[in-house]
Parts: sequence; structure tokens; C-alpha cells
Amino acid sequence: MQRPDGPSDARLHVAIIMDGNGRWARARGLPRTAGHKFGVDALKRTVEGASEAGVSTLTVFGFSTENWRRPGSEVSELMKLMKIYVENDLERLARDGVRVKILGRREGLSPDILQVIERAETRTADNAAFTLQVAFNYGGQADIADAARALARAAKAGEIDPEAIDEDMMAGALSTRGEAPDLIIRTSGERRLSNFLLWEAAYAEFVFQDVLWPDYGPQHLKAAIDEFRQRERRFGAVEAGKRAAG
Ligand code: IPE
Ligand code: IPE
Ligand code: MG
Repeated sequence: MQRPDGPSDARLHVAIIMDGNGRWARARGLPRTAGHKFGVDALKRTVEGASEAGVSTLTVFGFSTENWRRPGSEVSELMKLMKIYVENDLERLARDGVRVKILGRREGLSPDILQVIERAETRTADNAAFTLQVAFNYGGQADIADAARALARAAKAGEIDPEAIDEDMMAGALSTRGEAPDLIIRTSGERRLSNFLLWEAAYAEFVFQDVLWPDYGPQHLKAAIDEFRQRERRFGAVEAGKRAAG
């Protein structure tokens, strides 16, 4: 049943921690990199079904600032897959009205990755029907530190008054511009944030699903959103029906 104060046609910002590629591969006696390849197919399916599920912005965690700790061969494979995904899908995404944004640190990425990121963002800059944000070389703490550094520089240069720094200004300096997800999903049964969207998650709802990421698809996204629709969000206030009572 729909909650009266939570209309089912509200367009959502959903963020997904796509986890479990390695375990999916191991269960099949395959190398971890095979899990990542099938994970890209799951991403394609999920993006294709997201709009119908009620999503207007989908933010996915593709590579964390801590994922550099993995073996070099796995890191190279993840870099390669990011490139292949953009190369194969950019035109279709662009034609479908999808705006692509890449979140995270650009430093540390190789020139060929930077080039595909640039191309994806430029090619889709005028699209507005749907936003796909890929967090790549992203860490919530790094993003907050980078934002703080940018504001400190601006203050030092006399461009902003340090006293004017508030939540809105801080949010504006983040690579997400502070856009908050309504719902954060993590697959594979793990129940942690792993440095994803720390600032933006302040009032997000969480849904944890046991499915391993390469098996994910629109039906799982719909199930997570159904669960989200049952939640009551308060944002620090009181229950919706009791607001007038005082
Ligand atoms: C998620 O799957 C993909 C990335 C982190 C890039 P994992 O590779 O973390 O898979 P598990 O957690 O080892 O199963
Ligand atoms: C988070 O998953 C990063 C991505 C999904 C890209 P991890 O698999 O790296 O997280 P931990 O290490 O299990 O916390
Ligand atoms: Mg993992």
C-alpha cells in the first residue's frame, strides 16, 4: 500500500554500492575480474530499468579511493571496464537523454580514463531526462577534504568570508554538489557505507540486499524502492500526521 504522504510518482535519487563481484566469480570458479565484467552487464540492465522504477538520478559506486589497495591486475581491469563501458554505451545513453557525470578525484587517473570521462560529460551535458552519476576514484572523506581545501583557498584569496561557510556552501563544494540520495542500496549482504557519500547520506534510507551485484537487475531495484516507499522519513521533525498537533 502507498503511504498517503509518499506519492509513488515522486522521482527518486537512488545510490547503489555495487558489491559482490568477487564472490560471484569465486562461486563459479572464475577469476575476480570475470565478476567485474558481468557486473558491467548488471549496471546496463539496472540503468535501463531505472527510469521505469521511478528513478531520476542513479548514482553508482564504481571504484573507491581505497580500491587502489587491490592487486594491480584487478585495478587495471576495473579501469579498462570503465573505459569500455563508456566507449560502448555513451552514444546510446546520450540518445536516451541520459546525463552522465563522474564523481570523485581526477588526480591519479590515467590520461585515457580522463579523456573518456571528459567525453562522456561533454557529450551528455545538455541531457536532462535522467542523470547517471558514476563515482569513480571516489571516497566520501576525500571529497569532503577536497571541498574544505577549495573553500580554504577561496577564503585565503579573499573570495569568500570564512564566516559565510555553512552547510550549503560546503555542499556546493563537493563533487556531488551535495545532492542527497533518497535511498542507498548495497548489494551482497554487506552492511556498511565503505566511504560512499558520507555527507550526502545524512538522511538517506538504506536497503541492503543479499543478491550479488552481477545478478542484479531492474526487479531488484523495484523491490528496494517498494521497501523504501514503506519508510517514514522525518528529517528530524515529527511524524507527518502529528505536525499540526504541536
Ligand atoms: C564490487 O565487487 C566491485 C568493486 C568494488 C569495484 P567486489 O570486487 O568488492 O566483490 P567482493 O566484495 O569481493 O565480492
Ligand atoms: C565499495 O565496495 C566500493 C565499490 C563498490 C566500488 P568494497 O568491496 O571496496 O568495500 P569493502 O572493502 O568491502 O568495505
Ligand atoms: Mg566488495
